[in-house]
Amino acid sequence: MVKICCIGAGYVGGPTMAVIALKCPAIEVAVVDVSPLRIDAWNSDRLPVFEPGLDAVVKACRGRNLSFSADVDRHVADADIVFVSVNTPTKTRGLGAGKAADLTYWESAARAIADASRSDKVVVEKSTVPVKTAEAMERILAHSGSDVAFQVLSNPEFFAEGSAVQNLLCPDRVLIGGWDTAEGRNAVRALMDVYAHWVPEDRIVTTSLSSAELSKLAANAFLAQRVSSVNAISALCEVTGADALEVARSVGTDHRVGDSFLNAGVGFGGSSFQKDVLSLVYACECNGLPEAAGYWQQVVAMNEYQKSRFVRRVVSSMFNTVAGKKVAVLGFAFKKGVCDTRESPAIDVCRGLLGDRAHVSVYDPLVSEKQIRRDTAAAPAAKVEQVRVARDAYEAAEGAHGLCVLTEWDEFRTLDYRRIFDGMQKPAFVFDGRNVVDVGKLREIGFVVYSVGKPLDAWLEVLPAVA
Ligand code: NAD
Ligand code: UGA
Repeated sequence: MVKICCIGAGYVGGPTMAVIALKCPAIEVAVVDVSPLRIDAWNSDRLPVFEPGLDAVVKACRGRNLSFSADVDRHVADADIVFVSVNTPTKTRGLGAGKAADLTYWESAARAIADASRSDKVVVEKSTVPVKTAEAMERILAHSGSDVAFQVLSNPEFFAEGSAVQNLLCPDRVLIGGWDTAEGRNAVRALMDVYAHWVPEDRIVTTSLSSAELSKLAANAFLAQRVSSVNAISALCEVTGADALEVARSVGTDHRVGDSFLNAGVGFGGSSFQKDVLSLVYACECNGLPEAAGYWQQVVAMNEYQKSRFVRRVVSSMFNTVAGKKVAVLGFAFKKGVCDTRESPAIDVCRGLLGDRAHVSVYDPLVSEKQIRRDTAAAPAAKVEQVRVARDAYEAAEGAHGLCVLTEWDEFRTLDYRRIFDGMQKPAFVFDGRNVVDVGKLREIGFVVYSVGKPLDAWLEVLPAVA
C-alpha cells in the first residue's frame, strides 16, 4: 500500500491531499505542518480553508485514509511519496528582495525530509518555485549522509481559489516533470498512477523537471498578462468613448484568443499572480535577459497603474478631495467567492483613500472585520476611526458621498440602488471597479457613475483628466 505525506497544510496541501485521499481509498495520506494551530483546525469542524465542497470531501476521508498531524518527522519517514506544499512568498529583504521567491520554508522542508528519511522516496514539488529548484533540492537531499535514494518530481498546482475542489476533481491537466532516466521515469509513473485513479491519461502531461517548474510560472504570468492587457485597453476606452466589455467580447470571440480572463477591473490580486510574475522577472534578470525581464515587469506595473488610476479617479471626481468624506467600499476579497484578501486591490484602494483622509466604510460578505482592520492598518497616517466595517451594503452606503465596488460579488448586481441613492450625500458617486452595476439604470436614478473601461459620464468629462 502506497503512503503519501504532504508537508504544508495550507490552501494547496489540504484540498489537494483531501481529493487524493477521496479518489484513492487504498492510499494512506497524511498532511503535516509546523503550525499545530493549522493542524487543529483541519481536525475540527471549522476547516482553515473555505472552499465549496471541501468540507464534504474532508469528512468522507478524515479518519479513514486521511489524517492531519504536526508530527512531520514520523509521517515523512513512513511515506513513499512526499509532497512539498509550503509557502513560497516574495522575499522582503536581502538579495532579490521584492522579486525573488523566498525559499526558506521550502529549504527547511527539504532538510526535514533529508533528516527523517530511512527509506527511498519520491519527493514532489507542489509549491510554485523558480526553475531549477528541484536540482537544488536534490543537492540538499543528496547530502543527507544516508544511502537513501530520492527522486524529485515537479507537479505544480493549477487550481484557482474558490473552485479548488472542482478544479482538482476535473483538472484541465496534471503536469508532472521528472528526469529522463530509468529511476526518473519510474518516479513519474508512480505519481501518474496516483492521478490515474480519476484523471484521464490524456490529461496527464509529462515534461522535463525544468519545463514543469517554468510552466507553472508561465501559466500564471500569461493569465496576469491578459488581465493587464485588457486593463491597459480599459484606460484607452475611457478616454475614447469605447467600451472595454464590447472590445473584450469582440477580441475574445476569436478562438485563438479565447474569451476568458478578459474582464477589465481595478487590477488583479490574490496570493500568486504578482509573486509569480516577479519571480519570472527575477529569473530573467539573473540569466542576463533584461528585455524579457522588462516585458514581464510591465504586467505588474500595469496592475499598479490600474489601482492608482482608480484612486485618482475617485478623488478627482469628488472635487479633488475626499478628506472627511465617507466612502463606502463594497467588496474587500481579491475576487468573489473567497474570503482571501492577499494582495487584494481593495487594500491598495482603501489605503489610497485613507491617505487622502477619507473615512471608508467597508462591507464584504465573507471577509472578517479583524482581517479588514489588519489590512487597512498600515495605511499612511490613517487613524483607526477612519475605517468602519459595515454589516451590509446599505449600512456602508448610508450618508456616504461615494461608493466603490471593488469585488464582483453577485449580490452587488441586485442591490436596491434607489434606496442607496436616497441615503447618500448629493451628488452621489458610484465608482465601479468590477463592471457589476447597470450604468444606465444608475444614471437614471441620479448617480454620477464611473465604471472601469466604460465611456465617461458627462459629469466626469469636464473634470481634469486622470492620467
Ligand atoms: P499556505 O501559506 O496556505 O500554506 C503553506 C503551509 O506550509 C503553512 O501552513 C505553513 O505553516 C506550512 N509550512 C511552511 N514551512 C513548513 C515546514 N518546513 N514544515 C511543515 N510545514 C511548513 O500556502 P498555499 O497557498 O497553500 O501555497 C503553497 C504553494 O502553492 C505556494 O508556492 C503557492 O504559490 C502555490 N499555489 C497556491 C495556490 C493557491 O490558490 N493558494 C494555487 C496554486 C499554487
Ligand atoms: C490563479 C490562477 O488562476 C490559478 O490557475 C493558479 O493555480 C493560482 O493563481 C495560483 O497559482 O495560486 P487565483 O489567484 O485563485 O488563481 O484567482 P484567479 O481567478 O486567477 O484571479 C486572480 C485575480 O485576477 C483576481 O483578483 C481576479 O479578480 C482578477 N481577474 C481575473 C480580473 O481582474 N479579470 C479577469 O478577467 C480575471
